[in-house]
Amino acid sequence: MLRKKLIAGNWKMNKTPADGAALAAELVTAAGKQTDVEVVVCPPFTALDAVGKALDGSTIKLGAQNLHPEASGAFTGEVSAPMLRALFTTHVIIGHSERRSLFGDTDAFVNLKVLAALKNQLKPILCVGESLAEREAGTTLKVVQTQLEAGLQGVSKEQAATLVVAYEPVWAIGTGKVATTDQAQEVHAYIRGLLTKLFTEPVAQRVRILYGGSMKPANAPELLAQKDIDGGLIGGAALEARSFLDL
Ligand code: 13P
Repeated sequence: MLRKKLIAGNWKMNKTPADGAALAAELVTAAGKQTDVEVVVCPPFTALDAVGKALDGSTIKLGAQNLHPEASGAFTGEVSAPMLRALFTTHVIIGHSERRSLFGDTDAFVNLKVLAALKNQLKPILCVGESLAEREAGTTLKVVQTQLEAGLQGVSKEQAATLVVAYEPVWAIGTGKVATTDQAQEVHAYIRGLLTKLFTEPVAQRVRILYGGSMKPANAPELLAQKDIDGGLIGGAALEARSFLDL
């Protein structure tokens, strides 16, 4: 199989270092040696160190939820790619819809973050997705195209191979309303087509495209059976060991 499935947990603003380490330890005990599926957990910055230590020696990888494009300097409250690397972080979520809508992350800023991550050997999990109004207006594919193309400006073919894209329809995040498999597969295939145009077919075939938005053990098998759905970016169901392990 060309693309190994990837299940990533986005813990959002949840878990203290102690709670995060306890959850990570449970995941390691149950799944820390398996290599069939790539697993990444993305705790808040404050828990990265403790969770990273709990994951040490396992196959489960550590991701962050954001970064600042600059390496250091007067950016109060921000965290840079080299700082994340120093904690053995391998992945970083960029352009999550909550950052776009609540914290003003623009496509241009998302692009700077993607470039900074790649420059520092962090694998970006670039999030794209339409709002409910955009879906109802029939502009889903246009919105996704703009976010993807703008977010990936200046990314080379070689760098693109390490990329992960997450399609997260905003209306499905935390709402219990999961996209239908047809809705999701349509957008995933479209994203793969855009990646083919940007980076060539062999590169596009290597990029994992995750679905995110109310993915749960009950609805995951059907979604993950789709040709272009290579895994999931999981919010709520990643906060408990049982549901995350089931995924
Ligand atoms: P939920 O799984 O809670 O809908 O969240 C999805 C998400 O935003 C992952 O990044």
